[in-house]
Amino acid sequence: MDFAQLAAARHSAINFQKDVRMTEQDFQQIFELTKLAPSAYNLQFTNYLVITDEAKKDALCDLHYGQYKIRSASAAVIVMGNRQSATVEAAEDMYTPLKMLNIIDEVEYNTTIDAIRNYANALTRDELERELMRNAGLHVMFFMFAAKHYGFDTCPMHIHNIDGVRELCSIPAHLEPVMLITIGKSVDNVRPRGYRKRVSEFVQFNSF
Ligand SMILES: Cc1cc2nc3c(=O)[nH]c(=O)nc-3n(C[C@H](O)[C@H](O)[C@H](O)COP(=O)(O)O)c2cc1C
Repeated sequence: MDFAQLAAARHSAINFQKDVRMTEQDFQQIFELTKLAPSAYNLQFTNYLVITDEAKKDALCDLHYGQYKIRSASAAVIVMGNRQSATVEAAEDMYTPLKMLNIIDEVEYNTTIDAIRNYANALTRDELERELMRNAGLHVMFFMFAAKHYGFDTCPMHIHNIDGVRELCSIPAHLEPVMLITIGKSVDNVRPRGYRKRVSEFVQFNSF
Protein backbone atom coordinates (compact mmCIF):
# COMPACT_ATOMS: atom_id res chain seq x y z
CA MET A 1 0.00 0.00 0.00
CA ASP A 2 1.40 3.40 -0.86
CA PHE A 3 0.58 6.35 1.37
CA ALA A 4 -2.50 7.45 -0.60
CA GLN A 5 -3.93 3.93 -0.34
CA LEU A 6 -3.06 3.74 3.36
CA ALA A 7 -4.73 7.08 4.11
CA ALA A 8 -7.84 5.98 2.22
CA ALA A 9 -7.90 2.57 3.90
CA ARG A 10 -7.76 3.89 7.48
CA HIS A 11 -11.21 4.14 9.02
CA SER A 12 -12.21 4.35 12.64
CA ALA A 13 -13.24 0.79 13.48
CA ILE A 14 -16.85 0.35 14.52
CA ASN A 15 -16.05 -2.85 16.38
CA PHE A 16 -13.31 -5.44 16.61
CA GLN A 17 -13.06 -9.20 16.23
CA LYS A 18 -13.00 -10.28 19.84
CA ASP A 19 -10.76 -13.31 19.50
CA VAL A 20 -7.79 -11.51 17.92
CA ARG A 21 -4.70 -11.28 20.11
CA MET A 22 -1.83 -8.91 19.37
CA THR A 23 1.67 -9.87 20.38
CA GLU A 24 4.44 -7.66 21.76
CA GLN A 25 6.13 -8.12 18.40
CA ASP A 26 3.07 -6.64 16.68
CA PHE A 27 3.29 -3.60 18.91
CA GLN A 28 7.06 -3.38 18.61
CA GLN A 29 6.93 -2.99 14.83
CA ILE A 30 4.11 -0.44 15.05
CA PHE A 31 6.03 1.64 17.58
CA GLU A 32 9.24 1.41 15.53
CA LEU A 33 7.41 3.43 12.85
CA THR A 34 5.52 5.58 15.33
CA LYS A 35 8.75 6.82 16.88
CA LEU A 36 9.60 8.61 13.63
CA ALA A 37 6.91 11.22 14.38
CA PRO A 38 8.13 14.79 14.72
CA SER A 39 8.22 16.58 18.09
CA ALA A 40 9.22 20.02 19.30
CA TYR A 41 13.03 20.09 19.69
CA ASN A 42 12.83 16.32 19.19
CA LEU A 43 11.89 16.04 22.86
CA GLN A 44 9.50 13.15 22.14
CA PHE A 45 6.73 14.05 24.57
CA THR A 46 4.46 11.09 23.92
CA ASN A 47 4.22 7.89 25.95
CA TYR A 48 1.92 4.90 25.52
CA LEU A 49 0.40 2.38 27.89
CA VAL A 50 -0.84 -0.72 26.07
CA ILE A 51 -3.65 -2.50 27.90
CA THR A 52 -4.24 -6.06 26.76
CA ASP A 53 -5.45 -7.35 30.12
CA GLU A 54 -9.13 -8.32 29.74
CA ALA A 55 -10.21 -7.17 33.20
CA LYS A 56 -8.55 -3.79 32.70
CA LYS A 57 -10.14 -3.39 29.26
CA ASP A 58 -13.52 -4.17 30.81
CA ALA A 59 -12.93 -1.53 33.47
CA LEU A 60 -11.85 0.99 30.81
CA CYS A 61 -15.02 0.18 28.89
CA ASP A 62 -17.10 0.96 31.98
CA LEU A 63 -15.29 4.31 32.31
CA HIS A 64 -16.20 5.17 28.69
CA TYR A 65 -19.99 4.82 28.63
CA GLY A 66 -19.72 1.11 27.96
CA GLN A 67 -18.41 1.52 24.40
CA TYR A 68 -18.14 -2.15 23.55
CA LYS A 69 -15.23 -1.75 21.14
CA ILE A 70 -12.95 -1.18 24.14
CA ARG A 71 -13.81 -4.70 25.29
CA SER A 72 -13.59 -6.35 21.88
CA ALA A 73 -10.37 -4.61 20.81
CA SER A 74 -7.13 -6.57 21.10
CA ALA A 75 -5.82 -3.67 23.15
CA ALA A 76 -6.79 -0.28 24.47
CA VAL A 77 -3.82 2.05 24.18
CA ILE A 78 -3.60 5.06 26.46
CA VAL A 79 -1.70 7.91 24.84
CA MET A 80 -0.04 10.27 27.30
CA GLY A 81 1.89 13.52 27.20
CA ASN A 82 5.00 13.55 29.37
CA ARG A 83 5.42 16.81 31.33
CA GLN A 84 9.04 15.90 32.07
CA SER A 85 9.94 16.08 28.37
CA ALA A 86 10.31 19.85 28.27
CA THR A 87 13.32 19.96 30.58
CA VAL A 88 17.04 20.48 30.18
CA GLU A 89 17.64 16.99 31.62
CA ALA A 90 15.48 15.41 28.92
CA ALA A 91 17.24 17.51 26.28
CA GLU A 92 20.64 16.37 27.53
CA ASP A 93 19.52 12.74 27.37
CA MET A 94 18.39 13.26 23.78
CA TYR A 95 21.33 15.28 22.47
CA THR A 96 24.35 13.89 24.37
CA PRO A 97 24.52 10.68 22.27
CA LEU A 98 24.51 12.83 19.10
CA LYS A 99 27.47 14.79 20.45
CA MET A 100 29.34 11.65 21.47
CA LEU A 101 28.84 10.18 18.00
CA ASN A 102 30.10 13.45 16.47
CA ILE A 103 26.81 13.95 14.66
CA ILE A 104 26.70 17.40 16.24
CA ASP A 105 29.70 19.29 17.59
CA GLU A 106 30.12 20.92 21.00
CA VAL A 107 28.98 24.32 19.73
CA GLU A 108 25.77 22.99 18.21
CA TYR A 109 25.13 20.92 21.33
CA ASN A 110 25.46 23.94 23.62
CA THR A 111 23.37 26.14 21.35
CA THR A 112 20.62 23.53 21.24
CA ILE A 113 20.58 22.95 24.99
CA ASP A 114 20.47 26.72 25.60
CA ALA A 115 17.58 27.08 23.19
CA ILE A 116 15.67 24.27 24.90
CA ARG A 117 16.41 25.78 28.33
CA ASN A 118 14.90 29.10 27.21
CA TYR A 119 11.94 27.34 25.63
CA ALA A 120 11.28 25.19 28.73
CA ASN A 121 11.64 28.12 31.13
CA ALA A 122 9.18 30.20 29.11
CA LEU A 123 6.47 27.52 29.03
CA THR A 124 3.58 28.46 31.27
CA ARG A 125 1.48 25.70 32.77
CA ASP A 126 -1.18 26.17 30.07
CA GLU A 127 1.37 26.27 27.27
CA LEU A 128 2.94 23.06 28.51
CA GLU A 129 -0.47 21.37 28.41
CA ARG A 130 -1.02 22.62 24.86
CA GLU A 131 2.45 21.43 23.89
CA LEU A 132 1.64 17.95 25.20
CA MET A 133 -1.63 17.85 23.21
CA ARG A 134 0.00 19.18 20.03
CA ASN A 135 2.85 16.69 20.16
CA ALA A 136 0.70 13.73 21.18
CA GLY A 137 -1.77 14.48 18.38
CA LEU A 138 0.92 14.25 15.74
CA HIS A 139 2.46 11.18 17.36
CA VAL A 140 -0.72 9.21 17.64
CA MET A 141 -1.61 9.79 14.00
CA PHE A 142 1.68 8.08 13.13
CA PHE A 143 0.62 5.25 15.44
CA MET A 144 -2.71 4.80 13.65
CA PHE A 145 -1.12 4.82 10.20
CA ALA A 146 1.63 2.43 11.35
CA ALA A 147 -1.02 0.11 12.76
CA LYS A 148 -2.90 0.12 9.45
CA HIS A 149 0.35 -0.48 7.59
CA TYR A 150 0.78 -3.69 9.58
CA GLY A 151 -2.82 -4.77 9.08
CA PHE A 152 -4.43 -3.51 12.29
CA ASP A 153 -7.40 -1.19 12.65
CA THR A 154 -7.85 1.53 15.22
CA CYS A 155 -10.42 3.89 16.63
CA PRO A 156 -9.32 7.09 18.39
CA MET A 157 -11.39 8.05 21.43
CA HIS A 158 -11.55 10.74 24.07
CA ILE A 159 -10.65 9.78 27.58
CA HIS A 160 -13.82 10.51 29.51
CA ASN A 161 -12.62 9.99 33.05
CA ILE A 162 -8.99 10.94 33.35
CA ASP A 163 -8.87 10.46 37.12
CA GLY A 164 -10.53 7.07 36.82
CA VAL A 165 -8.11 5.96 34.10
CA ARG A 166 -5.18 7.30 36.08
CA GLU A 167 -6.21 5.31 39.13
CA LEU A 168 -7.06 2.12 37.22
CA CYS A 169 -3.70 2.06 35.47
CA SER A 170 -1.53 3.68 38.18
CA ILE A 171 -0.47 6.43 35.78
CA PRO A 172 2.07 8.74 37.44
CA ALA A 173 1.30 12.45 37.80
CA HIS A 174 3.82 13.65 35.19
CA LEU A 175 2.03 11.69 32.43
CA GLU A 176 -1.19 13.27 31.18
CA PRO A 177 -3.66 10.92 29.47
CA VAL A 178 -4.61 12.53 26.16
CA MET A 179 -6.43 9.91 24.12
CA LEU A 180 -7.46 6.31 24.07
CA ILE A 181 -6.85 4.25 20.93
CA THR A 182 -8.58 0.94 20.50
CA ILE A 183 -6.72 -1.41 18.18
CA GLY A 184 -7.25 -4.85 16.69
CA LYS A 185 -8.85 -6.36 13.60
CA SER A 186 -12.02 -4.59 12.57
CA VAL A 187 -15.22 -6.53 12.02
CA ASP A 188 -16.16 -6.60 8.35
CA ASN A 189 -18.63 -3.74 8.23
CA VAL A 190 -16.52 -0.65 7.65
CA ARG A 191 -18.14 2.64 8.60
CA PRO A 192 -18.83 4.57 5.38
CA ARG A 193 -16.47 7.53 5.17
CA GLY A 194 -18.10 10.46 6.91
CA TYR A 195 -18.68 13.60 4.85
CA ARG A 196 -15.49 15.57 4.43
CA LYS A 197 -15.46 19.30 3.78
CA ARG A 198 -14.22 20.37 0.40
CA VAL A 199 -10.62 21.53 0.51
CA SER A 200 -11.71 25.07 -0.29
CA GLU A 201 -13.85 25.06 2.86
CA PHE A 202 -10.92 24.60 5.21
CA VAL A 203 -7.88 25.93 3.34
CA GLN A 204 -7.01 29.53 2.52
CA PHE A 205 -3.96 30.76 0.69
CA ASN A 206 -2.08 33.83 1.88
CA SER A 207 -4.89 35.60 3.73
CA PHE A 208 -8.52 35.40 4.81
C1 LIG B 1 -10.64 13.11 19.53
C2 LIG B 1 -11.47 12.02 18.91
C3 LIG B 1 -12.40 11.34 19.70
C4 LIG B 1 -13.17 10.32 19.15
N1 LIG B 1 -13.99 9.60 19.98
C5 LIG B 1 -14.68 8.53 19.47
C6 LIG B 1 -15.47 7.71 20.32
O1 LIG B 1 -15.57 7.94 21.52
N2 LIG B 1 -16.12 6.66 19.77
C7 LIG B 1 -16.02 6.37 18.42
O2 LIG B 1 -16.62 5.40 17.98
N3 LIG B 1 -15.26 7.13 17.60
C8 LIG B 1 -14.58 8.20 18.08
N4 LIG B 1 -13.77 8.96 17.26
C9 LIG B 1 -13.68 8.62 15.83
C10 LIG B 1 -14.43 9.62 14.96
O3 LIG B 1 -15.82 9.45 15.10
C11 LIG B 1 -14.01 9.41 13.51
O4 LIG B 1 -12.62 9.69 13.39
C12 LIG B 1 -14.76 10.29 12.54
O5 LIG B 1 -16.13 9.99 12.54
C13 LIG B 1 -14.25 10.13 11.11
O6 LIG B 1 -14.31 8.78 10.73
P1 LIG B 1 -13.00 8.03 10.17
O7 LIG B 1 -11.94 8.12 11.25
O8 LIG B 1 -13.43 6.61 9.94
O9 LIG B 1 -12.58 8.71 8.92
C14 LIG B 1 -13.03 9.99 17.78
C15 LIG B 1 -12.07 10.68 17.01
C16 LIG B 1 -11.30 11.66 17.56
C17 LIG B 1 -10.25 12.35 16.71
